Amino acid sequence: MPALLEQVENLVKAKFTDMEGSHDWFHIDRVRKNALLIQQTEGGDALVIELAALLHDYSDHKYNGGDFDKGYHEVLDLLTQLQCPAPIALKVAQIVQVVSYKGAGVADQATILEGKIVRDADRLDAIGAVGIARAFSYGGSKHRALYNPAISPTLHQSKEAYAQDKGHTINHFYEKLLLLKDRMETSTAKQIAAQRHTYMETFLAQFMQEWNP
Ligand code: ADP
Ligand code: NI
Repeated sequence: MPALLEQVENLVKAKFTDMEGSHDWFHIDRVRKNALLIQQTEGGDALVIELAALLHDYSDHKYNGGDFDKGYHEVLDLLTQLQCPAPIALKVAQIVQVVSYKGAGVADQATILEGKIVRDADRLDAIGAVGIARAFSYGGSKHRALYNPAISPTLHQSKEAYAQDKGHTINHFYEKLLLLKDRMETSTAKQIAAQRHTYMETFLAQFMQEWNP
């Protein structure tokens, strides 16, 4: 493994060790694996993809006090300190800035192929069986209800409204998780997403059936 990747991996592992299950080191590692899998068919610079996957949640707005731009600067500073060549560091920082989902009514920012691959890889980890587990882990960490039939989903029109929402976890499926299949940009991720999407629909149908027997 090249020295740069190894250093970044060790830093990220240390930073994410004590995170709650939806955003811990294993999430980062699954995103990296998903991204490198997509890269095998879609192409793109594997070093940029792996660095961006490792660093995509390095300064997440959910955990840094709500700053959407901090990730770009922190990642650029970190890679510069580690003597990463400037063109690579810039690409990685730009990708990190556009990965995050910002609401049902907020379009994804345009990005290079490597950015599409990392964004798709992060979103694959938000759906399917792992996606369901992550959603309830995050919801639990925020003391959210599993479900509350009195509170309907909101299709947020701004990143601020999305970030401030405190609804129950079943709503998150309608506000994000079920929308991700149609937001995938690479055909490889679209194929993987189809089966994971169906699995979530089956889960939701059974959940509702058990809630309202
Ligand atoms: P991104 O990684 O694109 O910034 P989010 O901020 O929406 O996306 O969150 C990443 C993951 O954290 C989600 O896929 C989900 O598992 C969990 N999560 C975030 N917000 C919620 C929420 N309101 N309810 C349940 N899970 C959530
Ligand atoms: Ni992520």
